[in-house]
Amino acid sequence: MAVERTLMLIKPDAVKKGVEGKIIAHVQEKGFKLVALKKLRLTKEQAQQFYYVHKERPFFEELCEFMSSGPIVAMVWEGENAIEEIRKIMGATNPEEAEEGTLRKLYGTNIGENAVHGSDSKESAQFEIPFFFSRLEIVE
Ligand code: PPS
Repeated sequence: MAVERTLMLIKPDAVKKGVEGKIIAHVQEKGFKLVALKKLRLTKEQAQQFYYVHKERPFFEELCEFMSSGPIVAMVWEGENAIEEIRKIMGATNPEEAEEGTLRKLYGTNIGENAVHGSDSKESAQFEIPFFFSRLEIVE
């Protein structure tokens, strides 16, 4: 299986709850390597650019409002099959439907405020990683 990189965000609800450290430790314990990390706050326009693939969805406005409502933590994780594996560790979009032990079950609030984001394909990782990090900020 290929070694991949994926972008993960800790969303404003989870930062507000103060569980960033627990989320990072959880992913590390699954064997993935943290190769980039920063805390920032998106403007609404930046959130709209990041989530442009969802621009026709009914929740787009709400999602961008929420993602710009407070600080987030952006990370790049590296490991075998990282894109799919980290989506599994995150759990289903709706925390109520997420499996026990997944990040969204543990720390999510509802379908909109669901603690974490992870790239869902190689193509999205290729767009999302450079959205947040320059080459110099990603350290082997
Ligand atoms: S899809 O079709 O699988 O890409 O869609 P999904 O993963 O379900 O959702 C994409 C992102 O939209 C967020 N979302 C919502 N936000 C607010 N309200 C509602 N109802 C809602 N439904 C989905 C969801 O958390 C996903 O955000 P990211 O950051 O990509 O995980």
